[in-house]
Amino acid sequence: MERLDKILASTGKWSRKEAKALVKSGRVKVEGVIPARPEDKVAEGALVTVDGHPICTEKYIYVMLHKPAGVVSSTEDPREKTVLHLLPKELQRVGLFPVGRLDKDTEGLLLLTNDGLLAHRLLAPGKHVDKVYYVEVDGALEPEDAAAFQVGITLADGTECLPADLELLPRRDQCLVTLREGKYHQVKRMLASRGKPVVYLKRLSIGPLELDRGLPPGRWRVLTPGEKASLGCGQ
Ligand code: URA
Repeated sequence: MERLDKILASTGKWSRKEAKALVKSGRVKVEGVIPARPEDKVAEGALVTVDGHPICTEKYIYVMLHKPAGVVSSTEDPREKTVLHLLPKELQRVGLFPVGRLDKDTEGLLLLTNDGLLAHRLLAPGKHVDKVYYVEVDGALEPEDAAAFQVGITLADGTECLPADLELLPRRDQCLVTLREGKYHQVKRMLASRGKPVVYLKRLSIGPLELDRGLPPGRWRVLTPGEKASLGCGQ
């Protein structure tokens, strides 16, 4: 059970004060009935409407964004355009944050949510969730590079990386890299240590969640029920 004014405010469309006024104006109905007070408790999944239009009463929101190059993965930045700026206003006010960052020049799958437990399950060290990246390098990749990734790369500063997969593709400057951890600039630094600097990087998947091929860079959509179930959202 959740307070009605809190549910309305969590959509990002109204502040808590506006939500209270909305309920008092009689424009809100819960299961077809005008509630007595904004503080009334509402059961999860109940049908809440404003002017007859249903609102989403789900506690957590899960957004897939195809991050384009040129935006930063933080929620606020004094100078740069952030990934939140690519979402509509109402989604900018519900506490979404990216589950694992991508560099400013990296493209691809970014999951945004306000579900801290899911973020923990996907990011915490020791969880080792697979992240797959499509990579283009300046140079020609060799089977020795794949073998070195399998053993575990040691970066220039001595940082040791977990064993990772590097799959060679027909074009020798392209590969797929699968990481099971998330160190700063990790793909770029691992390939730099092999003398093959990354010139293009795109994340394709996080665990079972794959970037929707129909989603152009800069566009977003909410996760489907199947995608949410595969990630164990809301558990
Ligand atoms: N590795 C990198 O080097 N950059 C990213 O954005 C993600 C993984």
